[in-house]
Amino acid sequence: MQTLRLSPDASGLARAAALLSQGACVAMPTETVYGLAADARNAEAVARIYEAKGRPGFNPLIVHVADLGAAQALATFPDQALLLAQVFWPGALTLVLPLRADSGIASLVTAGLDTVGLRVPAHPVAQALLRAAGAPLAAPSANASGRISPTTADHVLAPEGGLDGRIAAVLDGGPCPLGLESTIIGWPDGRPSLLRPGGIPAEEIETTLDQPLARPQADPAAPNAPGQLGSHYAPTAPLRLNAHPEPGETHLTFGQPGPFSLSDAGDLTQAAARLFDLLRRADAQGRPISVAPIPDHGLGAAINDRLRRAAAPRP
Ligand code: TXA
Ligand code: MG
Repeated sequence: MQTLRLSPDASGLARAAALLSQGACVAMPTETVYGLAADARNAEAVARIYEAKGRPGFNPLIVHVADLGAAQALATFPDQALLLAQVFWPGALTLVLPLRADSGIASLVTAGLDTVGLRVPAHPVAQALLRAAGAPLAAPSANASGRISPTTADHVLAPEGGLDGRIAAVLDGGPCPLGLESTIIGWPDGRPSLLRPGGIPAEEIETTLDQPLARPQADPAAPNAPGQLGSHYAPTAPLRLNAHPEPGETHLTFGQPGPFSLSDAGDLTQAAARLFDLLRRADAQGRPISVAPIPDHGLGAAINDRLRRAAAPRP
């Protein structure tokens, strides 16, 4: 794939929006860092984000929208969240909020959780792209997995740790003014909590809320990943991996048709796109779940990582 470098003028924006509507990934500048955007309603487009980044696991992604109204179509806003949105949006603040049942967001975006991270970016190019695309855009930082977040289009395309040849296009909006990821606030136990420090100082948020933020311990299953608290979907039913089906189980197939098929054709992008929906549907059957072997290369590594976490004993 040849990666296009697009100018953020009318024709570049139209091209980028058309690529997004076809399910491709496009890197876009935001005021924090460059994000690798895909239509958040299109599960296969979102799977391509993980494919391009070579991420070994599925983290929930931040969904970018043009304004508060668009955000309210996707999630419910408790009073404190509404206050923070009114004060800090557009800007470097991500709010983790209860997902609305009618949001239309692909379950891969939230990694199967019933919360969603939302942000209204202030960058004029991100704003213009959101309006041209007319879609909520899921976007993690536009770097290969384990690399530093990019703050220029050159970083996005860098031969080392960049995404040249792996994504459809980058909109070149020059250097990102902040160069630091957004601050993430959520209410995991009802209290406002700092899930990741970032571009907006925690103190400013505490002043606005007139309340200290809880600073939860990082998830022990992912000690080096900030913003991970409570971010693993786990089914209620026990889960067996690399398994042949036993009687009484709901069996997820791969490379073989069936009522719970991850991909009839053994396609890893399709399997990633279906994974969390299928796990939820399987869980709803109320029987133990088994999953056929998934190859451990490409997106398969991310799928297997999530399945191992879902299968791990609960605390
Ligand atoms: O500034 C930023 O936030 C940039 C730009 C592109 O917006 N994006 C970014 O995305 O840094 P990423 O994927 O590198 O980091 C997203 C973080 C992850 O640590 C993830 O766990 C957390 O947000 N997150 C997203 N949704 C979540 C949810 N529903 N619950 C808990 N954490 C969530
Ligand atoms: Mg990142």
